[in-house]
Amino acid sequence: MNLERTLVFLKPDALQRRLAGEIISRFEKRGFLIVGMKLIHITEEFARRHYSAHAGKDFFEPLVRYTTCGPCIAMVLEGKNAVKVARSMLGETFGGESPSGTVRGDYSLSNRFNLIHGSDSTQTAEDEIKRFFRSEELVSYSREDIQWIYDTDGAGIV
Ligand code: RTP
Ligand code: MG
Repeated sequence: MNLERTLVFLKPDALQRRLAGEIISRFEKRGFLIVGMKLIHITEEFARRHYSAHAGKDFFEPLVRYTTCGPCIAMVLEGKNAVKVARSMLGETFGGESPSGTVRGDYSLSNRFNLIHGSDSTQTAEDEIKRFFRSEELVSYSREDIQWIYDTDGAGIV
């Protein structure tokens, strides 16, 4: 199957603002299959590792505080071009610069409190999925509607 997986997590502001259902619903409606999902409170050590590419930047410490300030919902989404499509659904990093129709463009005005994280490359997705989920926490299952999400009639999933 030519489907890809990506890691997204709803950040603490998404849960505190009761936007979790609304955001998850967008990915369901787009056609993604949820193959992993859990409520987690990210530890400081985990947040530092996850965002290690930003270590030393002026927003790193506030970012660690933000990520660890309340529970998050982590998800693995499966679909065609999952990494790129999910990132496009998030929008730009800064809520106020994000186009309407994206999660951040519809619900965020902040440069930091931007509701959701998404893996930014297929390699990052692979690493992040392993960081957030043990293999037995990912559930593969067939879906009744797949032939209406994609053209599955010929070779592959189009
Ligand atoms: P993410 O990694 O969370 O999916 O977000 P992203 O790729 O769109 O943005 P990135 O550059 O990786 O930044 C990670 C998170 O740090 C916060 N941030 N604050 N100038 C600032 O104050 C600033 N810049 C970034 C945001 O929460 C951003 O999502
Ligand atoms: Mg990033």
